[in-house]
Amino acid sequence: MFKTLNRRLSDAHKYHMAMHESPHENVLAFSVADSDYEVAPPIKQALRTRVEHGAFGYAKFNNTHRKAIRDWYKKRYDTSVKLNWILPVHKVLAGIGAALQTFTDPGDNVLIQTPVYHVFKPLIEDNARTVLENPLVRRNDAYAIDFEALENKLKESQAFIFCSPHNPVGRVWTHEEIKTVVDLCKKHDVFLISDEIHADIIIEAPTFTSLNEFTDVYPRMISVNAPSKTFNIAGLQSAYIIAHDQAVRETISKNLRGLHMSGFNILALKALLAAYNESASWVDAQNALIKKNKAMLDTFLEAHGLNSMRLEGTYLAWIDIFNTGVEATTFNKHLKKQGVVLSEGPPFGDSENRYVRMNLACSSEQLDEGLSRMAKELESV
Ligand SMILES: Cc1ncc(COP(=O)(O)O)c(C=O)c1O
Repeated sequence: MFKTLNRRLSDAHKYHMAMHESPHENVLAFSVADSDYEVAPPIKQALRTRVEHGAFGYAKFNNTHRKAIRDWYKKRYDTSVKLNWILPVHKVLAGIGAALQTFTDPGDNVLIQTPVYHVFKPLIEDNARTVLENPLVRRNDAYAIDFEALENKLKESQAFIFCSPHNPVGRVWTHEEIKTVVDLCKKHDVFLISDEIHADIIIEAPTFTSLNEFTDVYPRMISVNAPSKTFNIAGLQSAYIIAHDQAVRETISKNLRGLHMSGFNILALKALLAAYNESASWVDAQNALIKKNKAMLDTFLEAHGLNSMRLEGTYLAWIDIFNTGVEATTFNKHLKKQGVVLSEGPPFGDSENRYVRMNLACSSEQLDEGLSRMAKELESV
């Protein structure tokens, strides 16, 4: 079902970087968060049909696409959203950037919880806002929010980018945790942006809770999501903001119009429908594959005296390599010589330089090959 593709010469960002960083002729990249296998068959078929049609003029995001998103939220997360709440944008980061520009001013403080997706920090800084950090607290094999510290930081913040589920620590925040986040943002009048791009990759958590469960609590918040991680279509660029409050929606829409950021391209429109309307069982199978890969990784790590965080969600394992005695950046450098590229902790805010992130969205055979190469490196340290 998950056909591995050779992405080395396919304009893939992940492999472009990996081939630049590693001299190995058959480099394996477990870094950038996309998958190394073919998309769900309905998506490929829908794109084939669109390409065969042969015209690629202006595209229109309409209620058919909104309905597919609304139905996906209902079916997969049991959350109700209204059609007119949904605004297309081409990328999740574009949606977050637009929200920062709309609801904060230059110099304002924007809060993130580290370690976190490494592009949030430059996104905030490129928009001339200031990054505030509320570090997550590690408790054995999972991270938690220190809510007292969060509240103190929120008192000084104008916006909060909440990563839910959380890349790279793999937490799927509970209903109660998210409710507390919403209540605190309301109490301190902080604009809340929930990045839900990993919502479908649920591995060891009972369920995903969307921010849209709390629309009756607080108006000054949005969620941003996309089928891109789930269905390996990030290169097509298809994301959307959900803004339940009319004033918030109108203000951000005006800003998006000002930039002519009208959203999807014509191929992405077809891919979104095929993904959300026809590929739910493929997502379930993918989650089973990620679970299997995580078990394989954990057996390997245990045999080498290492461990990784519990993977409640996302396909990104956060591995603690402290017991190797080398720092994450050094470890990664050595691994690259073996043709294995991981993401190292510091850009995510790992101040101890002791974690690496490994992308598990690949075949078990590819993972096995990567781990065999890693074993050689571990034996030498
Ligand atoms: C949490 C998170 N948000 C956003 C993105 C990027 O999304 P997009 O390419 O739609 O901007 C990623 C990609 O890895 C991510 O992990």
